[in-house]
Amino acid sequence: MLDLGNKTIDESQQGMALKSDLNAAALKKFYIESYGCAMNFNDSEIVASILHEKGYGATSNMEEAQLVLINTCSIRDKAEQTVRHRLMHFKGLKKRNRQLLVGVLGCMAERLKEKLLEEEKLVDIVVGPDAYRALPALIEEAESGQKGVNVLLSREETYGDINPIRLDANGISSFVSIMRGCNNMCSFCVVPFTRGRERSRDADSIIREASELFDMGYREVTLLGQNVDSYRYEHSNGEVISFANLLEKVASINPLLRVRFSTSHPKDITDDVLFTMAKHQNICNSIHLPIQSGSTAVLQRMNRTYTREWYMHKVARIKEILPDCGLSTDIIVGFCGETEEDHQETLEVLEACRFDLAYMYLYSERPGTLAARRYEDDVPNEIKSRRLDEVIAVFRKGSQLSNESDIGKTFEILVEGPSKKDESNFNGRNQQNKMVIFPRGNSSVGDYIQVKITGCTSGTLFGEIV
Ligand code: SAH
Ligand code: SF4
Ligand code: F3S
Repeated sequence: MLDLGNKTIDESQQGMALKSDLNAAALKKFYIESYGCAMNFNDSEIVASILHEKGYGATSNMEEAQLVLINTCSIRDKAEQTVRHRLMHFKGLKKRNRQLLVGVLGCMAERLKEKLLEEEKLVDIVVGPDAYRALPALIEEAESGQKGVNVLLSREETYGDINPIRLDANGISSFVSIMRGCNNMCSFCVVPFTRGRERSRDADSIIREASELFDMGYREVTLLGQNVDSYRYEHSNGEVISFANLLEKVASINPLLRVRFSTSHPKDITDDVLFTMAKHQNICNSIHLPIQSGSTAVLQRMNRTYTREWYMHKVARIKEILPDCGLSTDIIVGFCGETEEDHQETLEVLEACRFDLAYMYLYSERPGTLAARRYEDDVPNEIKSRRLDEVIAVFRKGSQLSNESDIGKTFEILVEGPSKKDESNFNGRNQQNKMVIFPRGNSSVGDYIQVKITGCTSGTLFGEIV
């Protein structure tokens, strides 16, 4: 998952309804809630743009909407349960307003298809991630009393020409999708089924979008893909653009535009990318490199196609080329056949790598995946939970040490906004993606400032402007 500024996007979180009421004058209003990864949140912004073209304005008040949309995630069972609860909640709205249409978008729509209509009896529209252009037509169908369903996956759709309407934006940092789908077949993962084949977005449209964001005052873009290192776009003039080339192009828009990216796959991240990061000061020294497990045997069953040693070697290479690079990861605990020894190996890697940020999950079997078909989900829940606690404890110890070692250092921070706990403070992140809280001084949102670190917890740094 991704850390969205001060929000960590994860299905355990409440969905995020947009804060700004866009196009207040529009006749028809839609309300949208998003769950899952940053790509899903970015898709909601594409949907907002498609609906805007058809005269719909966004509202943050579901009571005044004619159309309620929920953009869903299927990554773990819990993510789907959250969506089911929300659908039950919308049922009440539908009772009060018989004209109201409810639409399910995203990965759960793709996974369950028409079944969603039967199961809940309160869904009017089901649209998969590659079919958002069909939404206006599906709404018309639904208005005439039919159910509107389109879950066709595409090999080409990238929505490259659509300018997303930024929902819940802080005006400083934004996402830019650079590809869709995934061709990897990690055995635990539902994404290849819900998002289809991998395809890369036209590089010119990516650069145009990032440039426009900069002109609008944004100071940070995060390039998004399930596996950014396999980005590859062949220009009509024959030029082949790799991820390293793309990074370079985006970084060259303006030195004041910070560039981040997610997610990197340990098997695919190249020295080229690392050298490009080293060359451009505005490409943030921070890499999200999910390990999933520290045991080679487990990694093999997961079909991650690298070993524990390969991963450790990549981390060493990153630190060699980018000595101060921030590192974050994802871990799945209790995958099929995980023994106590496998678990200890994960703890060892956590201790050795000292990740700044880690998203740690209990394995959740997803229907239809390779793991569901081939392996037994045989680690009992109590053991999974105990192992997760241990993984979290070791990670926290590492991140505490990593944060303590920052005390006394000075970092360049991009000011993002007021701190939640105390509005007299601002927060912002350093290149390594660590959140830093400091008294405002004379700084303003969007400024780059130098902050000296004076204290920390395992999750946050505190400092003063110097
Ligand atoms: N493309 C990214 C991750 C996408 S999903 C990558 O390759 O790393 C985000 C994270 O969810 C994964 O890294 C994994 O840690 C977790 N995840 C995926 N499927 C899961 C499952 N079935 N159970 C538990 N966690 C899962
Ligand atoms: Fe899922 Fe693996 Fe693709 Fe990531 S790389 S989306 S974990 S299949
Ligand atoms: Fe979830 Fe789909 Fe993203 S399953 S994590 S919303 S790609």
